Amino acid sequence: MRQLFLPYIIASFLNWAVSAHAQSQCIADAQDWSETALKRSLSAPLGLPPVLHPYDNSPSVAKIELGRKLFFDRRLSINRTMSCAMCHVPEQGFTNWELSTAIGVEGRSLKRNSPSILNVGHLNVLFHDGRDHALETQFIGPLTARNEMANPSAGYVVTLLNKLPEYALMFEDAFEAQASLDRIGMALGAYQRSVLAGNSPFDQWHFGGDEAAVSADVKRGFQIFTGKGNCSACHLIGDDHALFTDERFHDTGYAQLRDIERQNPPTSIPVQVAPGVVHEMAFSKIHSVSAKREADLGRYEVTEDPADRWRFRTPSLRNLTVTPPYMHDGHFSTLSEVIEFYNQGGSQISSQDPRIRPLGLTGVEMRDLEAFLQSLTSPDLGCLISEARVSPPDNH
Ligand code: HEC
Ligand code: HEC
Repeated sequence: MRQLFLPYIIASFLNWAVSAHAQSQCIADAQDWSETALKRSLSAPLGLPPVLHPYDNSPSVAKIELGRKLFFDRRLSINRTMSCAMCHVPEQGFTNWELSTAIGVEGRSLKRNSPSILNVGHLNVLFHDGRDHALETQFIGPLTARNEMANPSAGYVVTLLNKLPEYALMFEDAFEAQASLDRIGMALGAYQRSVLAGNSPFDQWHFGGDEAAVSADVKRGFQIFTGKGNCSACHLIGDDHALFTDERFHDTGYAQLRDIERQNPPTSIPVQVAPGVVHEMAFSKIHSVSAKREADLGRYEVTEDPADRWRFRTPSLRNLTVTPPYMHDGHFSTLSEVIEFYNQGGSQISSQDPRIRPLGLTGVEMRDLEAFLQSLTSPDLGCLISEARVSPPDNH
C-alpha cells in the first residue's frame, strides 16, 4: 500500500488543481460516485444529445465500476506497465498533453495523436480513420497492438482477468458471469459513456438562453464559426445540441501538407538540450536515432478507395482547451495555429475539400473565433477526474 500512497497524493493534488481550473470543486464519493456517473450517462448534460446505449448493453453502476477499473489497470498490457488511462489521462482532458503522437509499451511509437475520451460515447465512428464503430469492440485494438498494450491475443487478457479474484467478484456483480471478451467491452463501453462533458459557457448561452454566460467576443466568434469561417459545415451545431462533428471524412489539406513536410525534411532543426539552451542539429543525425515518420493516408487505410486518401474524421471541438495538441498527428500545439491553418486556406492543394479556402479573417476575427472555441470547455471536468481517480488502481 505504501508504494501507492505518493502517486495517490499527486493524483489528488492534480484533481484539486484541475478542478479549481475548471471551476468545479467536485470530490467524488468513494461509495456512490458510480451512481452519479450512471445518472449522467442516462441524462446527458446541457448541449449534448442523449447517449444511445446499445440495446444489449444498458449501463449499470456495476458495469461502470468495472469499466473504470479496467481502464486504469496496467496489468492489461503485456509487461504490466501500460493502462488505457496512460494515453487517455484524466487530468489531461483524457488525452495526453505531452505527446503529439502516442507512445505504447517499451517506448514504441504510434503515428497518431490520442483522441480524448470525453464524450466519446456519442460517436458512431471511432478512431481518426473511423475503422471501428463501437466501444464494445474498439478496445481490442489497443489491447493487442504491438505498439500499444502488446498482448499476444485478446483471449490472453480474458484468461488473465479470470485469474484475478477481485475481478471475479466485479464481473459477477455486473454480468452474473465470469470475464469474457464481450463483457470486458461492455464494461469499458459503459464507463466511457459516462465520461460526458457538456454544459459549457457556450451551451449555457446558446441552448440555455443565459446571455451573460459568454462575452461579446465569444458571440462574435460564433458568428464567424457559422458564417464567414463556414466551420459549422463540418463541425455541426444542431437545434437542441451540438457535437461539432458530422462524423464524416474530409481532406482539409492538412494531411497532404504534413506529408510534403515529411518528404522534404529541413536540413537542421532546433533542439532544446537544456532549459533555455537550443542547438541547431542536423536532421540526418536526429533521423538516424528516431523512429521514421510514417505516411498517414487516413480513411484510405480503411477503405483503400483512392477518393478517401488524406481524409480524416471531423473531430468534435468540445473541451479543446484541455485536449491539446491538435489534429490527427498532434502537430499543432495551440488553437491559434489551427485557426491560422484554416485562415490561409489549408494546404491550398486543389484536391482538398473546397470549403477549406482562404478566409481573409482579420486579427480580431481570429481572436474572436478562438474565444468561441475556448467557450466550449465544460466546467464539470473536475467531477470526471475525481470519479476517474476515486481510488488508486491496484495493479500490482
Ligand atoms: C499507447 C497509447 C494508447 C493506449 C494504451 C490506449 N489508447 Fe486509445 N487511442 C490511442 C490513439 C493514438 C488513438 C487514435 C488511433 C487512431 O485513430 O488510429 C486512440 C483511440 C481510442 C478511442 C477512439 C476515440 C475516438 O475519438 O475515436 C477510444 C474509445 C480509445 N482509444 C479507448 C481506449 C481504451 C479503452 C484503451 C485501453 C483498453 C486504450 N484506448 C488504450 C492511444 C492509446
Ligand atoms: C470540410 C470540413 C471542415 C471544415 C469546413 C472545418 N473543419 Fe475543422 N476539422 C475537420 C477535419 C476533418 C479535422 C481533422 C483533421 C486532421 O486531424 O487531419 C478538423 C480538425 C479541426 C480542429 C482540431 C481538433 C482536434 O481536436 O484536433 C479544430 C480546432 C478545427 N478543426 C476547427 C475548425 C474551424 C475553426 C473551422 C473554420 C475556420 C473548421 N475547423 C472548418 C473538418 C473541417
